[in-house]
Amino acid sequence: MAPVKVTKICCIGAGYVGGPTCAVIALKCPDITVTIVDLNKARVDAWNSEDFDLPIYEPGLEDVVRQCRGRNLFFSTDVDKGILEADLIFVSVNTPTKKSGVGAGFAADLNYVELATRRIAAIATSSKIVVEKSTVPCRTAESMRTILEANSKPGCRFDILSNPEFLAEGTAITDLFSPDRVLIGSLQTKEGKEACQSLKDVYGHWVPTDRILTVGLWSSELSKLAANAMLAQRISSINALSAICEATGANIDEVANAVGKDSRVGPKFLRASVGFGGSCFQKDILNLVYLSESLHLPEVAAYWRQVVDMNEYQKRRFSKRVVDTLFNTITGKKIAVLGFAFKADTGDTRESAAITLIKNFQAERALVTIYDPQVLQSQIWSDLMEASPGVPLETIKRQVSIANSALEACRDAEAIVIATEWKEFRTIDWADVYTRMTKPAFVFDGRLLVDAEKLREIGFKVTVIGRGERL
Ligand code: UDX
Ligand code: UDX
Repeated sequence: MAPVKVTKICCIGAGYVGGPTCAVIALKCPDITVTIVDLNKARVDAWNSEDFDLPIYEPGLEDVVRQCRGRNLFFSTDVDKGILEADLIFVSVNTPTKKSGVGAGFAADLNYVELATRRIAAIATSSKIVVEKSTVPCRTAESMRTILEANSKPGCRFDILSNPEFLAEGTAITDLFSPDRVLIGSLQTKEGKEACQSLKDVYGHWVPTDRILTVGLWSSELSKLAANAMLAQRISSINALSAICEATGANIDEVANAVGKDSRVGPKFLRASVGFGGSCFQKDILNLVYLSESLHLPEVAAYWRQVVDMNEYQKRRFSKRVVDTLFNTITGKKIAVLGFAFKADTGDTRESAAITLIKNFQAERALVTIYDPQVLQSQIWSDLMEASPGVPLETIKRQVSIANSALEACRDAEAIVIATEWKEFRTIDWADVYTRMTKPAFVFDGRLLVDAEKLREIGFKVTVIGRGERL
């Protein structure tokens, strides 16, 4: 049998990964009909909204959806129909860290992946290629395969592939347009390799062949965890060095630049920060820790765990520096937090460092005003409530408010804390901000964003992460 030519794709999960990925597939493959299904009706409605008020903010995404929606790209809550019609199904549901039970706090919760897999087995009346897109622990594909085979109808074949996503939020569309690599894992059987070829042909519409890597299923699953763990490890390494810089008067920018010039190290992902966030890094490392422990490799587990511990330390350290600098107390002081998203150019707040900082400031009884250009107010409140379980929203609102602009957030503040590297914070009229603040006016730059010298000339007392110089 020749590899199946894919003409109908279904993607289960219209989130940050499934949505942009499959929208780009639709754009680049006009001969393929792509249907993205999701149980969350509000999300699907937003994808289908007349004015393209999409449920996620991602530069360039709206343009892609405008070009394809209604042509060969569809969004629906009808999961079963999507499954029935497709030759190839992406499983792109979320896999959060387990909150209870075995492996709580470390292992990935595979409940949604399993539910989606069982649904595919129950509904399908013809053969399907099932592609694991969600980041999952190694050997999940094997479990999916067992479930599918045990429940398939006569004449239905299921081939399982692993095709981890490497897009980063904020640059998802450019990452998808020209990926460094596309990784496809399959069983090394004849059928497995044919299924792999079918998916390769889909990506082959726009990705050069030498960038499509085909490997075994388990290597593919592990590579995703490894890639994220190694990226996060670079950030924790530079953040560990930022603490040394602050203690010694060295400058982390200069150190990172010098280190990154070595072509063996390279310049990317060496930006000191108040800590990494996002839905992947911490979760994937904890997954790796859990996997290592399950494999009786405690030293390996401890090694990776330290990357997350260092990240927590960085957030604590930065919060403490704010308190120490503001004469050892921030009780009753107004602090403006600029940025709430986990990085610039996204409205996503999952694991955002800002949440931890604000929680720490709340514990010190400060008055916090938050401004973020993209994050919805409802999202901010729900994150802050989740961070302080049992505390009623009314109580949180006594200490925390949300502003509609950076200028408004900074009014009468004693300190400004930059938590996300939004470009618009670079172009703030700092002289104007200064006149509106209580003096001395402090700025804490957790993102190496501002020109500290210029701000000092205006009169600000400036503290920058990874710099030990005088205020
Ligand atoms: C991605 C990865 O796929 C995931 O492995 C990783 O943990 C986080 O990043 P992402 O697209 O960002 O997931 O998650 P999310 O935005 O939460 O989207 C998942 C979607 O799947 C949600 O819209 C949810 O409603 C939907 N879903 C979930 C279903 O349609 N069915 C389910 O059974 C479960
Ligand atoms: C990451 C991976 O980059 C991507 O390949 C994978 O598919 C999903 O996980 P994402 O989490 O969307 O992508 O964003 P990323 O750009 O990796 O940033 C993660 C966090 O690290 C952010 O909080 C960011 O601000 C922080 N970061 C990044 C730093 O603190 N310093 C850096 O030098 C780079």
